[in-house]
Amino acid sequence: MVSQLADIYSKMDNDMFRILRAIESLLPKYEYPPLDIVERRARLPPGRFKRALEKLVEMKLLRKSKHQLMGYTLTFQALDLLALRTLVARGTISEIGGKIGVGKESEVYKALSPTGMKLIVKFHREGTRSFKSLRKTRLYMADSTRKHWLIKAKLIGEREYKALDTLYNLGALVPKPIDWNRHAVVQEYIEGIELYIIPDNGLPNPSDVLDKIIATIEIAYKKAGIVHGDLSEYNILVSTSGDPYIIDWPQYVYRDDPIAEDLLERDVYYIIRFFNKKFRLGLDPRSILERVKGSGDGG
Ligand SMILES: Nc1ncnc2c1ncn2[C@@H]1O[C@H](COP(=O)(O)OP(=O)(O)O)[C@@H](O)[C@H]1O
Ligand SMILES: [Mg+2]
Repeated sequence: MVSQLADIYSKMDNDMFRILRAIESLLPKYEYPPLDIVERRARLPPGRFKRALEKLVEMKLLRKSKHQLMGYTLTFQALDLLALRTLVARGTISEIGGKIGVGKESEVYKALSPTGMKLIVKFHREGTRSFKSLRKTRLYMADSTRKHWLIKAKLIGEREYKALDTLYNLGALVPKPIDWNRHAVVQEYIEGIELYIIPDNGLPNPSDVLDKIIATIEIAYKKAGIVHGDLSEYNILVSTSGDPYIIDWPQYVYRDDPIAEDLLERDVYYIIRFFNKKFRLGLDPRSILERVKGSGDGG
């Protein structure tokens, strides 16, 4: 398996990781940690420190301050490598493969577990300047806009892992979460295609698939007490066996949030609109919404 990330990872050595970790640990305190402090924290002999630092700069894993002369900060790719290193050390993954999804707010790579299970690693990118869609982030990060991007990124990773964990254990059709570290979430790889590119004759029984999607929305709402908030045909993967998996959960809101009802309505509306248009089901979104909110047993 080859990818730019795998290639960079293979060029990393222990000294380089020590410097990245030293800078990371100083980031809550300094926007661009000064080099002398980084050097002390990394505990490397001066010659080795200089060589490893030069390599990191050359590989564009560090960004130099424009104002303070000597400070460096991590790039997002450096954070990816730190998360990867931890996941490998823990035995969660043994190989990182090619990039698959180029989502709006993440980069998703294929990976393998030590036992050969197919996985994905989703590196969150919310809140970085290069990723413009702050709409999603604002929904659940409103009180933390002044937090460091690194802290925000880690919170989002944890948030998505926990949502998936709750939903998966309730029997909802979501990818099984395997682990998370920093801003990276490891999940079971769902072999299939996104609903938005499904061919017209791609689903033998569209109503069945829709029912399963509604069942997941219902479990989330009634049992987990959450609303996805960004649901559409772009966030549903139809597996090769025909099951619809709802992905991309980090922006969820709790049921008692003032905007939860509006988001639930929008989630249901988008899905019904897609199925009505694509498969001519002629369904009324209001009755489906009643079912989701009603006093049934939650699927
Ligand atoms: N568990 C998974 N299995 C297979 N592919 C996935 C999985 N999770 C995400 N992907 C792929 O990555 C893309 C982006 O993931 P998503 O969770 O929707 O993040 P974003 O916030 O960037 O949209 C998806 O559209 C899909 O192609
Ligand atoms: Mg998505």
